[in-house]
Amino acid sequence: MRKLLFVDCCIRNEDVSRTKKLCRAYLDEYLANHPGTQIEHLYLPDEPLKWIDEKTADRRAELNRKRDYTDEMFRWARQYCEADRIVIGAPYWDLSIPSLLKVYIENICVEGLTFVCTDTGFEGKAHFDRMIFLTTSGGYIAPGADGGTDYLRNIAAFTGNGCFEVFKAEGLDIQGNDPHAILEEAICRVRRAAAESS
Ligand SMILES: Cc1cc2nc3c(=O)[nH]c(=O)nc-3n(C[C@H](O)[C@H](O)[C@H](O)COP(=O)(O)O)c2cc1C
Repeated sequence: MRKLLFVDCCIRNEDVSRTKKLCRAYLDEYLANHPGTQIEHLYLPDEPLKWIDEKTADRRAELNRKRDYTDEMFRWARQYCEADRIVIGAPYWDLSIPSLLKVYIENICVEGLTFVCTDTGFEGKAHFDRMIFLTTSGGYIAPGADGGTDYLRNIAAFTGNGCFEVFKAEGLDIQGNDPHAILEEAICRVRRAAAESS
C-alpha cells in the first residue's frame, strides 16, 4: 500500500485555516483517485518536536556513528524516509514558513537515513516520488521573498529524487479581494493536480 505523509503545519484552527482547506482538497481528491493510499497525518503542533540543541546534536552524532537509528529521536526521519509521497501544508509567515516546520526539518535531516555523504557530495535517500507544498498568504509573495518555498524545494532535492511542486493562494488578507474566490480557484488547481497525478 502506498503511503502518503501529510506534514500538517497549519497552525490555526481547522475551521478557519485556509491552508488546511487547500490540503483537504488535495488529500480528498488524491484519495478518491488513488483509493489504495494510506494517509499518515502528522499534525506538527501535537508532536513533541524540539529544536536540535548541543546535547541532542552530540547524542545524534554518537548514534549516527554506530548507525543505530532505533532511538525515538529518529521516528520522524524514519517516517519521512518511508513515505511514497509527501504533502506539506503551512501558511506563509514572515516571508517564510512557521518556525515549527523548520524544527521538523531539523529533525528529519539525518545523515545515514534521509541522506548520505558520498565522495561527490550528498545523496538523498528518502523514497518520495513527489513533494507537494501547499500554502496561503495574506499578501502577494514578492519575487525573491518566498523563503519557505525555496527552502523546501532545496530540502526535497537534498533528501530525495522526487519532484517538488508548490500551490499557493495569495492575497487572502488584502482589503477588497475576495478571499473565498481566490481560495476556490486554488482549490480547483490543487484538485486537478491531485486527480492527474500518478
Ligand atoms: C504570524 C503571522 C505571520 C504572517 N506573515 C505574513 C507575511 O509575511 N506575508 C503575508 O503576506 N502574510 C502573512 N501572514 C498572513 C498569512 O499568510 C495568511 O493569513 C494565511 O492565509 C494564513 O493561513 P491560514 O488561514 O491557514 O492560517 C502572517 C500571519 C501570521 C499569523
